[in-house]
Amino acid sequence: MTQTDAGSIESVLKEDRVFEPAANFSESVGGAYINSLDQYHQLHKQSIEDPQGFWATIAEELDWSTKWSKVLEWNLPDAKWFVGGKTNICHNCIDRQINSGHGDQLALIWEGEPMPEGKPEVRNFSYNDLKREVCKFANVLKDQGVTKGDIVTIYMGMVPELTIAMLACARIGAVHSIIFGGFSAQAIVDRVVDANSKTIITCDGGYRRGKVVPLKDNVDDACTQLADSGHDLKSVIVLKRCENNINWTEGRDHWWDELVGNASDNCDCEPMDSEDMLFLLYTSGSTGKPKGIVHTTGGYMVYTYLTSKYVFNLVPNTDQVFWCTADIGWVTGHSYIVYGILPNRVPTLMYEGAPNFPAEDRFWDIVSRHKVTQFYTAPTAIRAFMKWGSEHPAKHDLSSLKLLGTVGEPINPEAWMWYRKMIGGERCPIVDTWWQTETGGHMITPLPGATPTVPGSCTLPFFGVDAAIVNDRGEEQPANVGGLLVIRKPWPAMLRGIYGDRERFIDTYFSRIKGMYFAGDGARRDERGYFWIMGRVDDVINVSGHRLGTMEVESALVSHEAVVEAAVVGMPHEIKGTGIAAFCTLEPHHVPNSDDEVAKLKEILRAHVGKEIGAIAKPDVIRFTDALPKTRSGKIMRRLLRDIASGSEDKTQDTSTLEDLSVLEKLRESEEG
Ligand code: WT7
Repeated sequence: MTQTDAGSIESVLKEDRVFEPAANFSESVGGAYINSLDQYHQLHKQSIEDPQGFWATIAEELDWSTKWSKVLEWNLPDAKWFVGGKTNICHNCIDRQINSGHGDQLALIWEGEPMPEGKPEVRNFSYNDLKREVCKFANVLKDQGVTKGDIVTIYMGMVPELTIAMLACARIGAVHSIIFGGFSAQAIVDRVVDANSKTIITCDGGYRRGKVVPLKDNVDDACTQLADSGHDLKSVIVLKRCENNINWTEGRDHWWDELVGNASDNCDCEPMDSEDMLFLLYTSGSTGKPKGIVHTTGGYMVYTYLTSKYVFNLVPNTDQVFWCTADIGWVTGHSYIVYGILPNRVPTLMYEGAPNFPAEDRFWDIVSRHKVTQFYTAPTAIRAFMKWGSEHPAKHDLSSLKLLGTVGEPINPEAWMWYRKMIGGERCPIVDTWWQTETGGHMITPLPGATPTVPGSCTLPFFGVDAAIVNDRGEEQPANVGGLLVIRKPWPAMLRGIYGDRERFIDTYFSRIKGMYFAGDGARRDERGYFWIMGRVDDVINVSGHRLGTMEVESALVSHEAVVEAAVVGMPHEIKGTGIAAFCTLEPHHVPNSDDEVAKLKEILRAHVGKEIGAIAKPDVIRFTDALPKTRSGKIMRRLLRDIASGSEDKTQDTSTLEDLSVLEKLRESEEG
């Protein structure tokens, strides 16, 4: 992808295989909601012309304790949806199903990672079970002094109690801030301080690929740093999962089981204003610390409910089992393991561990044992499955599958075709869903019974979404000319802000193109009107479908005493899609003297980044250099580094603004490691 001056982008990808929805898809899922492209276009038009009418009809499918007075109030950049309405998302996930007589139906299926004697631990929760557990834990939170509006930090593995904890927060009106269990102690500190959170819920450990991740140790490290900086943390609630040895701080630490033991299983849902905060979720930006994305109650609830229903075609009472393989620590898990799926009354499956434990066929074993019908995963995982070999899915009966989905990054057509053939048996539609932490739910996506799919394209905007490709001046681009992806109208699940940083909120999303939400992605539309995402246009890299700011990784590198300056760029990576390349200049006393020392220092720096941020941020390649290529004004020329890192260097690139040409020569010669 090359970007020209006005923000128009040249695209190189060409793909013309088209897959029409299979004739029997509708029948296979117990009736498709949207059955033709015409029907899609008609409804889409209606939803754009009369968003208030469209969304009111949908919102009425859910329970509200007080009805809204106005569907939308829009003062760019601030949206208010279902103004004056009161509801509770936990009620709509659980109580609503019980009240309509479905309390005994399966709500949540959980499978643990370990396979003692070849058998996994499976726990099933009906809506009644979930209600009991959620109410008990909600009362525990109240006993710990948590009240409406307090921010509760959750740092757990993929155990059912994670879902229970988030629903308990929602039930009493506390705001959850979930931190992915793969992040480090430092990441916990940053987020707890930013949110001024007083309560942390964690586990002793979490199972991952047969090992135990020391979650409580990480929380302890974070607590030490928090205490040093004067942060007043009230309590740490610890769920026993792995029985690994942990340290204990009397007065601060409490066992989940002991607290829950005496708790009542009766707890009313707090009526929440539609615009009350539901959760905070931190995500990376191009500069500074991660930003706390604010999501509120009513709009998010209605939007995740409808996208789940239409995009995955969820139908109650049809033996569907929905499985999203994401971790709840990411927005995908928030929206499509919990909040969008439960109100649709289709059981949601949650798996604790790695896809290759105890062997590379674990996912397919799960699909066949639980008769999964809709399966939602990431392109990075699909590329790993391809590499592991088709024999793994081939060993299992995957005939229960009716629909496949992807999310997180562009999927390469080769992986799409493999997914369709090897997992979907050429019968399942694939929904390639483009969205973001900030959008709360799917934004551009096929509808499985209606949209012909083309490998690599996320196709068309969802109802109510007015997406466009524009240049820097906000002018819509013609077909096949790349530009910036924007959303021109508010949608119910849109972020309501960056926690505590109004200016950054406006700067990041509403300043680059006047009057529109700017997503940060480059994209084009083809002659069909289909969208093709071309990647980020800021200093954000998408590693394995998750965003990292290059600045964050650079800050982590220079916080090591050996590194004076660092520049981090993305590079093509076979499995992850994008890998991380780091160029570092070293402090003279730390310059290694032998190949051995070079290798050792690279390992030390990788581990250091892992400690500062988490394993996901470890550079794939580190190069030491005497100097970084800079403009005369001192700006690092990342585009040159990107070319070097990807090995696709174009010697005709404009280097006229480069201060010292020899720097580039040296970098080209420097050996990769
Ligand atoms: C960024 C958002 C949404 C949950 C997972 C990631 C990229 C996401 C797709 C897709 C191409 C995609 C974009 C986006 N992205 N889905 N289907 N095709 N790119 O959430 O960490 O907020 O990242 O992921 O670049 O901006 P996130």
